[in-house]
Amino acid sequence: MQSFLRLISTFFIFLSCVENTFAGITSTVIRSQWPSSDIPLDNEVFAVPKGHNAPQQVHITQGDYDGKAVIISWVTSDEPGSSEVQYGTTKGKYDNSAEGKSTSYTFYKYKSGYIHHCLLDGLEYDTKYYYKVGSGGSSREFWFQTPPTIDPDASHKFGIIGDLGQTYNSLSTLQHYMVSGAQAVLFLGDLSYADRYKYNDVGLRWDTWGRFIEQSAAFQPWIWSAGNHEIEYMPYMEEVDPFKSYLHRYPTPYLASKSTSPLWYAVRRASAHIIVLSSYSSFVKYTLQWMWLREEFKRVDREKTPWLIVLMHVPLYHSNNVHFMEGESMRAAFEKWFVRNRVDIVFAGHVHAYERSYRISNIQYNVSSGDRDPVPDKSAPLYITVGDGGNQEGLAGRFRDPQPDYSAFREASYGHSTLEIKNRTHAFYHWNRNNDGKKVATDSFILHNQYWVSNSRRRKLKKYSSKSIT
Ligand SMILES: [Fe+2]
Repeated sequence: MQSFLRLISTFFIFLSCVENTFAGITSTVIRSQWPSSDIPLDNEVFAVPKGHNAPQQVHITQGDYDGKAVIISWVTSDEPGSSEVQYGTTKGKYDNSAEGKSTSYTFYKYKSGYIHHCLLDGLEYDTKYYYKVGSGGSSREFWFQTPPTIDPDASHKFGIIGDLGQTYNSLSTLQHYMVSGAQAVLFLGDLSYADRYKYNDVGLRWDTWGRFIEQSAAFQPWIWSAGNHEIEYMPYMEEVDPFKSYLHRYPTPYLASKSTSPLWYAVRRASAHIIVLSSYSSFVKYTLQWMWLREEFKRVDREKTPWLIVLMHVPLYHSNNVHFMEGESMRAAFEKWFVRNRVDIVFAGHVHAYERSYRISNIQYNVSSGDRDPVPDKSAPLYITVGDGGNQEGLAGRFRDPQPDYSAFREASYGHSTLEIKNRTHAFYHWNRNNDGKKVATDSFILHNQYWVSNSRRRKLKKYSSKSIT
């Protein structure tokens, strides 16, 4: 009798675990406000700042593991100039300076400008810093805010953008993002789409993109991951060095997380631990990325950074006809770890639409088992595809029909997401379709932390079961 009651209670616990599954929504809305072509070169969003050798394409990213450093990057086009950054906590009063380095590269016959990267470290948390790059009359000034101290209850608002490109749709995404109030961008790969061009125009379109994003990226860190459009394998012009433009222009703090490659790394920010993976680098067992990730998961301390977020370019779960199943090999390699480590969200881009999964996993499947379908799994992450930044390739409008059980919401429109972490247990998530402006909740929900909430639930269950035994 007792075992029968246990069976019944297990059944009801299982039912409560599969809440909301089997009822995904395919939005009938498809919005594309502007044509999918790049903004012309003479548009003001690509304007070169005035003055001899004026710094352009200014952008920043987190410079260390814990958010007390930033890397400031910019380009000078006339001559090398200085790689120094002057900075301080009062506008116009720069008590500190740091010396960076400059680099350059060629791509076919294009010669890049002088690309400067300068690390500012030992910064105070939660502090506004003003900084100046360049010299004389053509110097330029910007500011950024450092994140709060690493703390499980530190609140922080992230923006999530993928596959941005440089069309009017991209501009719309960027403008909407900039009024969201978010403090750092988690970028999901495919930056400029410069590889859609040929010969010297590839380099030119990397430059225009750098000037395009400066309006946001000079003022807050964009945390980068690489996509297929960064590979730039172009043998017809003898360019075969993968990620050449990307690696020269967009540095990452990979050494701080003991990574051997700028393409995969991790940072901690406020109450979040963010792991960046490379879909286009080796990741099977015993490769460097695989071994690094195994170690990085050991470094995750949910007592300090309860929010565990993974970024990659190719989604492991989505149901669009475009790029369907491309993430399967990485899913086979890493999904078990995501579930075991109770990752909160896996964000990806690549597919030019929006889609969110339920908490599901397919880790019981192997080639000799028959259990091929993903199943509801409370320990699994949400898989969210935000590849809808607005690049020139347009929208991926054809979803698979019928909508698979694992797909919770999908819509082929441009937009971006925000994840507003409030404390260790709760965060607000919001996907914002471009045409709706910032106030319309297209896909939004309150997210419960996978570590703290499940721990407290486990404690309650334990309490309950010990009571029922006595
Ligand atoms: Fe892509």
